[in-house]
Amino acid sequence: MAKEGADMTEETEYMIDRNAGKEGVSVESPSNAKEMRAVVLAGFGGLNKLRVTKKAMPEPQNGEVKIRVKACGLNFLDLMVRQGNIDNPPKTPLVPGFECCGIVESVGENTQGFEIGDRVMAFMNYNAWAEVVCTPVDFVYKMPDEMMFAEAAAFSLNFVAAYMMLFEVAKLREGMSVLVHSAGGAVGQAVAQLCSTVPNITVFGIASCFKHASIKDSVTHLFDRNTDYIQEIKKISPDGVDIVLDCLCGENTGKSLSLLKPLGTYILYGASNMVTGETRSFFSFAKSWWQVEKVNPIKLYEENKVIAGFSLLNLLFKQGGYNLVKSVMNKLLSLYEQKKIRPLVDSLWALEEVKEAMQRIHDRGNIGKLILDVEKSPTPLMANDSTETSEAGEEEEEPEGDNDSKERMPFIH
Ligand SMILES: NC(=O)c1ccc[n+]([C@@H]2O[C@H](COP(=O)([O-])OP(=O)(O)OC[C@H]3O[C@@H](n4cnc5c(N)ncnc54)[C@H](OP(=O)(O)O)[C@@H]3O)[C@@H](O)[C@H]2O)c1
Repeated sequence: MAKEGADMTEETEYMIDRNAGKEGVSVESPSNAKEMRAVVLAGFGGLNKLRVTKKAMPEPQNGEVKIRVKACGLNFLDLMVRQGNIDNPPKTPLVPGFECCGIVESVGENTQGFEIGDRVMAFMNYNAWAEVVCTPVDFVYKMPDEMMFAEAAAFSLNFVAAYMMLFEVAKLREGMSVLVHSAGGAVGQAVAQLCSTVPNITVFGIASCFKHASIKDSVTHLFDRNTDYIQEIKKISPDGVDIVLDCLCGENTGKSLSLLKPLGTYILYGASNMVTGETRSFFSFAKSWWQVEKVNPIKLYEENKVIAGFSLLNLLFKQGGYNLVKSVMNKLLSLYEQKKIRPLVDSLWALEEVKEAMQRIHDRGNIGKLILDVEKSPTPLMANDSTETSEAGEEEEEPEGDNDSKERMPFIH
């Protein structure tokens, strides 16, 4: 990974590890070093742990490109990271964010295929929410000419995860049926679009009611998340469904398994149910854990069911799957160029508005993806609200519930 500041030790593995936050956020930058803005998570917890601060600008190491960031993706996972609601959390302070896009500003040795000025998008093992990032070329992809930065920041994580679950794990093919939770969200909409590239797929989507008018055309059947969706789906398809994509976990795991047809595949890829309040709740964690159906392999054998799990970030950064991901990305970019898929962007936010953006996901308000637009100025209401130029480790108490709800800022195509 890139060195940031003179006393940074070089990391050789692309891993999410306990030290992933050590890169420089609390290190004084040398007075002659160039600086950049970055979002910093000072510690796990509520929104008041987030701030924008100045950091030393990274320089590319061997095999890395330096990207002047234009936009970053904000994912539900970032909310879980903020709360410390993840396995083996890295140390804080850290710069959050797993994906961004921008323009290559300089290149290290051994970065064949990339040149200064290239428009690129990249996966990051944290550190994406900054004006400048450095990352190994294994995780960098060129953007199509017609793709806008806001779209690029909404593309990688959601479409690669959706594609790999549908096509690599569950082997989606003509005539199958798919159940997807959080259908109005970024992954949910990527799943819906990819399903539409295969003939005769029935998509059962579940989402909060207010989203239905906006997303009803993207799925075959849509249910309110508060209804008994098992009964509703069985009324339409008494045999159940071929594929269940479960990002909720907890009680939904058992319900979803009961819906699987013989030879059907259930994939767990998230644990949104663990998020309840603003900070991590041990009760929600325990409840979710307790409610998960205990899987008996003999029962699976008798019922002809497949259970799988999928984590794109672990595949990329812990399990060396970047070449496979690159081949998937090439297929996805081809689908984009054929105009068969296009990321749905919910809204754009300045770095300084990161708290409000995160609150929007927490409040289930988003339809599609939230983007941090690095060049956007905060709206006057938000200005100075979360900008913090002091050292990242310092704590500042802020009153709870200071996140005024904000009108959705539509993305203009
Ligand atoms: N395994 C992987 O590789 C991978 C990759 C990307 C994302 N994910 C997972 O996929 C899921 C969706 O991620 P995303 O980034 O696309 O988010 P998202 O769906 O765009 O946004 C969150 C949506 O989730 C729903 N939701 C469900 N439980 C919630 C809760 N407890 N609190 C707030 N909202 C809740 C809400 O929609 P409704 O109210 O309409 O249900 C909300 O609008 C997450 O669980 C994420 O961790 C996994």
